[in-house]
Amino acid sequence: MATLSAGSVVAVIGSGAMGSGIAQVAASAGHIVKLYDTRPEAVAKAIADIGAVYRKLADKQKMTAADADAATARLKAAQGLNDVADAALVVEAIVENLDVKRSLFADLEGVVADDCILATNTSSISVTAIAAKLRRPQRLVGMHFFNPVPLMALVEVISGLATDSAVAQTVYDTAARWGKSPVHAKSTPGFIVNRVARPYYAEGLRLLNEQAADPATIDAVLREAGGFRMGPFELMDLIGHDVNYSVTQSVFNAYYNDPRFTPSVIQQELVNAGFLGRKSGRGFYAYGEGAVAPAVATEAPQPNPEYANYSMGQDAMGAVTSTALMDALLERFRAHGVEVGLKKHLEGNAHGHAQDIAPAIHCNGAAVYLTDGRTATQRARDSKHPDTVVFDLALDYGKAPRIALACSDQCRPAAFNSVVGLFQAAGFAVTKLDDVPGLAVMRTVAMLANEAADAVNQGVCSAEGADTAMQKGVNYPKGPLAWADSIGIGHVVTVLHNLAAAYGEDRYRVSPLLRRKLAAGGKFHA
Ligand code: NAI
Repeated sequence: MATLSAGSVVAVIGSGAMGSGIAQVAASAGHIVKLYDTRPEAVAKAIADIGAVYRKLADKQKMTAADADAATARLKAAQGLNDVADAALVVEAIVENLDVKRSLFADLEGVVADDCILATNTSSISVTAIAAKLRRPQRLVGMHFFNPVPLMALVEVISGLATDSAVAQTVYDTAARWGKSPVHAKSTPGFIVNRVARPYYAEGLRLLNEQAADPATIDAVLREAGGFRMGPFELMDLIGHDVNYSVTQSVFNAYYNDPRFTPSVIQQELVNAGFLGRKSGRGFYAYGEGAVAPAVATEAPQPNPEYANYSMGQDAMGAVTSTALMDALLERFRAHGVEVGLKKHLEGNAHGHAQDIAPAIHCNGAAVYLTDGRTATQRARDSKHPDTVVFDLALDYGKAPRIALACSDQCRPAAFNSVVGLFQAAGFAVTKLDDVPGLAVMRTVAMLANEAADAVNQGVCSAEGADTAMQKGVNYPKGPLAWADSIGIGHVVTVLHNLAAAYGEDRYRVSPLLRRKLAAGGKFHA
């Protein structure tokens, strides 16, 4: 471990939302923290606010009163940059502007010792570019915290082309000692989180654009089936559409208009209208006095069907198979006393039907499959079985309160309703989505995993780093690559392949690393 010693001085430049959070965390870890801001009142406010937080923590007995006083006393206001000359680490959290950041670091180089580490909290500017004009560019590194800093564990430690690996490691180890979860990343557009998270917003916006359901319903599916803390629309409303749209645009531009990152005209219109989300009182939802939360589309109660049974799937060699996800769903049915008889073999061709070799539940004539990225309508046609229903991915079929279904355009309403009744009998609230390819959770998770796999493939981060980043930086319930492991890499590749076929867009191209893992029969995590 090459961490900064606890007694060493950390300087924080910029005392806004991020700078004051960083100062709080560093002072808690025992450092003398010098805060500087071009607005001295921002420094005074930050020190007062942090002191108040420490006192509150002491009141709640999360730290002793003596520790709270000592940590407060370690916060010092710097009157000018010369006051930070003794810093071992300087973390910059000023405006997001390349020229201003470059000029600050150039000034700092004239003040601090040669072995002082310079760190930038930029969320979107190339760390390589910020370092480019320095006398010693090897000592500049990205130290990207997440808002609110004291609560969010992730720190992306970003190496630019010139960054010395020992400097990155010291910052990594120091962040770990501060109680954070650091991950190494290469300076590339969006780093890890702001890149890998793009599909969370983008697929939500596309689902809305294709009228899969309204925002409140899609949000509920992502939360209650997907296990995400917030659905994409409420999250974009919280972030602010101006901010979210501009991050999407900047990643899109930086990757030379890769269709994976194409911004949404729906979001552009919100920005055009000034409907920026919570902060402006209106985004996808209305806020403020008298605002009512829109209803989530949920199917009316249907009777539990007389019988249902399960047929296992078939692998390429014709052997009978099941999948962990289907098994988990059947377990849920059993736990709720819902009869699902086992038919070891596939539904035959008794009615001249072609076979679909995936595991299926059969219920009053309907064949029910886990979505594989095809629409139910396409699948009905492929298998010559009109009454086809597909269900969405859930984080945990044993516990999910909601499930999303879609049925083929050819499906008889009575057949669909009996499938609804079956899922309701197992305790699910059922949401019917329009028949979009890949439904909501499956499509989103497949695209998150695809993006994470590409980031790993391109050396931006490790598989562990990608998963840690998404769990600790944006609270995902599972790392996307660990999630792909549990769905089965083969199924994720099939979903993406079918999405690509459905849309004919390069956006859904499969990451070479996913293909390679599949070919090797491997997983991302042992
Ligand atoms: P903020 O606007 O709350 O605070 C910035 C502070 O920097 C202000 O107090 C301002 O007076 C001061 N400042 C501006 N130019 C300065 C200079 N040349 N020298 C000294 N002080 C200067 O901004 P916030 O949200 O704290 O963001 C700061 C940085 O952190 C930006 O680079 C941003 O991209 C990055 N960041 C922001 C996140 C967020 O969620 N707000 C998340 C991660 C990174």
